[in-house]
Amino acid sequence: MSLVDLPLLPLGKGRDLTAERGVECLGELPSASDPDLVARARAAKAALGERVFVLGHHYQRDEVIEFADVTGDSFKLARDAAGRPDAEFIVFCGVHFMAESADILTSDDQVVILPDLAAGCSMADMARLGQVEDAWDAMADAGVQDSIVPVTYMNSSADIKAFCGRNGGVVCTSSNADVALEWAFEQKPDAKILFFPDQHLGRNTAVLKMGFSLDDCVLWDPLQPAGGLTREQLESARMILWKGHCSVHGRFSVDVVDELRAKHPNIKILVHPECPHEVVLSADLVGSTEFIIKTIEAAEPGTTWAIGTELNLVQRLARAHPDKNIVFLDRNVCYCSTMNRIDLPHFVWVMESLVAGQVVNQIKVDPDTERHALVALQRMLDLPGKSHRD
Ligand code: 13P
Ligand code: SF4
Repeated sequence: MSLVDLPLLPLGKGRDLTAERGVECLGELPSASDPDLVARARAAKAALGERVFVLGHHYQRDEVIEFADVTGDSFKLARDAAGRPDAEFIVFCGVHFMAESADILTSDDQVVILPDLAAGCSMADMARLGQVEDAWDAMADAGVQDSIVPVTYMNSSADIKAFCGRNGGVVCTSSNADVALEWAFEQKPDAKILFFPDQHLGRNTAVLKMGFSLDDCVLWDPLQPAGGLTREQLESARMILWKGHCSVHGRFSVDVVDELRAKHPNIKILVHPECPHEVVLSADLVGSTEFIIKTIEAAEPGTTWAIGTELNLVQRLARAHPDKNIVFLDRNVCYCSTMNRIDLPHFVWVMESLVAGQVVNQIKVDPDTERHALVALQRMLDLPGKSHRD
């Protein structure tokens, strides 16, 4: 295996702009201790005015969210980016695959910027195009490829989305995975879904929303010959789940759920569908970050909640709702390290560079990848309704 095929390159080493992996920052960053950072960010934003549109994912730090024109989950932000054709610059405070999607969904003359190029996603790195193409060929050898519809989670690189576009598939997010799977199953008689990169979102949606059983799901391990599956297993499966996961949501456990329920009998457990299946089964409610926010907003004062998603969002919810008791569903601190790479020094650096007429950290998807990825993304945006839940 070459270095390029490693699932996650250590952050800060080398440059690979097409991947969800670490790259070094080439700029002259302001010092994190500069007391004027907030004032500098405000001044740069004011100077750019309507020319710039700043998007902030819910997992971003407070210091960055403060400067976002809109906040949202990855579905909402994709739509928001597409809805601002007049903005010359889209500064995406999120991770690499989100900025790529924004570039695909915006016009060629709009510039999408990711403040720190090392803000990748370890889950997205778990499905590389070469591995997916090998799996596709193996499925042809097993005689099942004709019945497969590929579905990729938004948390994947643009070339994986393009693969789905080329092969009759679709993109989904955590807020519309059920609708996307329904669409995919309707595309072929006896369709099977190849779902990547997040096995947990795929399993949770198939079993808890679509009525499939765990036995209908098999796990494709890209590091095993033929995915570690027999021809018979592939033939009888309805969901072929890629062996990928989110390292942040993978930390939540049933142990902690049980402990919290024993301490607080009326507690409600609210988790993101990237959590393992047994954690989702032990929870009261499951949904995307946008769903989590709406649920807490609608909750009665005095109610008690444990939330299983990224800590920046949970802390913000706890601060915004002092009349509700909100705790984190992990014993330890659990930030997404790549989301956290976007900080005020990087934000100020990209914004001041734009004021000075210099574009830095542009995310540009190549035209061929963009054309095919757009097909899969547009299929997602055209899905009926957003989700049965929302
Ligand atoms: P959503 O924004 O779709 O809820 O996904 C969470 C996530 O992990 C983003 O990286
Ligand atoms: Fe990737 Fe998980 Fe971080 Fe989201 S929270 S960006 S899926 S590592």
